[in-house]
Amino acid sequence: MFYYRQLTYALLKDQFEINLEIPDGYLIPTVTSRYKYILWVHELLLQVAEYFDAKKSIIGLDVGTGASCIYPLLGSKLFGWHFRASDRCAKLALKNVTANKLENRISLVLVDEDDPPLLKLVDQANRYHFCVCNPPFFNSKEEQESTHLRQTKPLSDNPGKEHEAVTRGGELEFIEKLLQDSLTLKKTIIWYTSLVGKKRSFLSIVKRLKGLREVTTIKWTQFTQGKTTRWAVAWSFYAIYIDEERMQTAPTALPAKRFKSTSEENKEVLKTTQLLLSVASGHKEELLDDVRSIFKEYELKYNLESALLQLFKVEARTCTWSRRARRKKKRLSDFPSEPKGLPPSDFPIFIALFQILRGDDKSLARPLQVTLWITLLRGDFGKFVSFELHFARALEKFGKYKVLNYNVYGRSLTPIKSDLR
Ligand SMILES: C[S@@+](CC[C@H](N)C(=O)[O-])C[C@H]1O[C@@H](n2cnc3c(N)ncnc32)[C@H](O)[C@@H]1O
Repeated sequence: MFYYRQLTYALLKDQFEINLEIPDGYLIPTVTSRYKYILWVHELLLQVAEYFDAKKSIIGLDVGTGASCIYPLLGSKLFGWHFRASDRCAKLALKNVTANKLENRISLVLVDEDDPPLLKLVDQANRYHFCVCNPPFFNSKEEQESTHLRQTKPLSDNPGKEHEAVTRGGELEFIEKLLQDSLTLKKTIIWYTSLVGKKRSFLSIVKRLKGLREVTTIKWTQFTQGKTTRWAVAWSFYAIYIDEERMQTAPTALPAKRFKSTSEENKEVLKTTQLLLSVASGHKEELLDDVRSIFKEYELKYNLESALLQLFKVEARTCTWSRRARRKKKRLSDFPSEPKGLPPSDFPIFIALFQILRGDDKSLARPLQVTLWITLLRGDFGKFVSFELHFARALEKFGKYKVLNYNVYGRSLTPIKSDLR
């Protein structure tokens, strides 16, 4: 146990610059599994970047943070996230927050075993981006002891205090409480997530979630480390488009380099920009059609992923908006026999999400204001921004839209016209 403790401290210090101190007998977290869970949550957040206010920090909840406070420390160091975390041993967790000088990002709430896990933790006036939870596993001390006896003793044989590992009804009942709280809180939190230790529990939770009409998005994954497999489930009351290809990019090993966490980097992770438009005419389908026609004009591959969310996925394979490409297009229309040049590349220049968030239709204020959230999923950021500027200009050419603001990672570039001309 001595070596395991020292190895954990050294790994956290070396890879993440985290200082940890855990009193004897308390659970020592396995760094790799905690790291994988945080990366998975990060991938989930990338899927919903269009809901975020780029000016605000990402804020998450950790139910049962343990004496280590491991998830808030990792999330904060890696991505600059803010956390509200709870535990029955919150005072010990606070020591680790202080030792890492993260009091401005992580706050702690002391709870009792029977407290509702999320309702006790959230401040309902706020909105949260996600919650994480590694629930106590076992239903009884006897179940815990018999499991540890059956297992071959791994390096990490580390049962922790009884209150850390045992809860009435085991993990299944604990996650059911999370689920019940989520049915009350609904859109207060974008992603509800939990780790699950047993396959039986995992299958039954997924089945339960699938049966709930109000839950509109469910996602799960599996983490394997040596002989140990754990599952994670996520659900949401938002209808979220999941880019499966993107989800698979989550690295599974520890990072080869140290991460520096700054709030700038945090914003970089979610490459979200906003165009605030003033729309002279308020017809529902009009803007959607006009946006579509611009995509056609620039020869972008596009797909209306959700008519309800007015969400497009857009792919650019040729830089059709560059001056050179436009000149070439003109020459081809004047002299159609000219050689057409190279075919489009096999690799996209960028893939992005465009979502139209309409202003309040009921308000009599005219003209209507509309926000376009544009999120770069992957690709060349410079070319992506240059396309956005052309896109904005093309919108203004219709004569019924005026771009009021162009916001990149919370930095306003108003007025847009001077950028375009
Ligand atoms: C398996 S440990 C996880 C600790 C840490 N998150 C980790 O991954 O290493 C479960 C934690 O849940 C806490 N816990 C038990 N009942 C709780 C409740 N009702 N609300 C919040 N936390 C609770 C326990 O004290 C324990 O620290």
